[in-house]
Amino acid sequence: MNNEVINVENLTFEYTDTAVLKNVNFKLYKGDFLGIIGANGAGKSTLIKLILNLLTPDSGKIELFGTDFAKARKKIGYVSQKANSFNSDFPATVKEVVRANLFAEKGLFKPYTKKDDEKVLSALELVGMTQYRNKLIGSLSGGEQQRVFIARALVREPELLLMDEPTVGIDAKSVHDIMEIIKNLNRNGMTIIMTNHDTPTLLEVSNKLLIFCEHGYEEFVTMSDLSLERISDILAGKRLHKHA
Ligand SMILES: Nc1ncnc2c1ncn2[C@@H]1O[C@H](COP(=O)(O)OP(=O)(O)O)[C@@H](O)[C@H]1O
Ligand SMILES: [Mg+2]
Repeated sequence: MNNEVINVENLTFEYTDTAVLKNVNFKLYKGDFLGIIGANGAGKSTLIKLILNLLTPDSGKIELFGTDFAKARKKIGYVSQKANSFNSDFPATVKEVVRANLFAEKGLFKPYTKKDDEKVLSALELVGMTQYRNKLIGSLSGGEQQRVFIARALVREPELLLMDEPTVGIDAKSVHDIMEIIKNLNRNGMTIIMTNHDTPTLLEVSNKLLIFCEHGYEEFVTMSDLSLERISDILAGKRLHKHA
């Protein structure tokens, strides 16, 4: 079997008035960790939404596991920026929040099975949150809630996990813990695509980078041929190996 997870070719997209992505190209294989960096408004979230089929490319293509999004969707998990904190009496427990993500698989009216509960518990285990399973989601700290949301994505056992700034607005200790969790998932073979405002952290965990330059062009690089100096050159818009 071919280990290709995603193949993006000549991807171009604009909102009504704003050209955002122009001929973006990259390819990832099982176990890759792609960090996406670039200034605010560069198009990072737009790219994530295109991959998740929430937006449609103007041209170019996105192949997932050698097929299209509809056929690959079971293999894809998503963690967004931390949602606004829940009100402390929001009526759902940690376990229910995670389990709800199994709805899509089962259909609304199928009862949960013992196996579902096991899946929920092992997802919570992966993020170190099993002991919180019966607590109300709103009673947890921001960092703990975000761990629950990672478990919510993991409960469907994705092979590719997309995360758009998953650690924004979370205290430093939790950011560290969450990055450790993500690193571990990646070490165990999960392919990760992650945007983050915190470039140094992302550099530490990624083996590939997609860098959006100031002028809206992108550069796709593998970490092994990259110095920090070169990254800042790319961020400053200096063309280094394409369209030089
Ligand atoms: N729904 C939208 N309609 C129109 N323009 C948008 C929309 N969403 C984002 N944009 C614009 O597209 C550009 C890229 O946005 P985004 O992908 O959110 O950037 P990033 O995630 O890198 O900060 C920005 O100029 C932003 O203002
Ligand atoms: Mg964004």
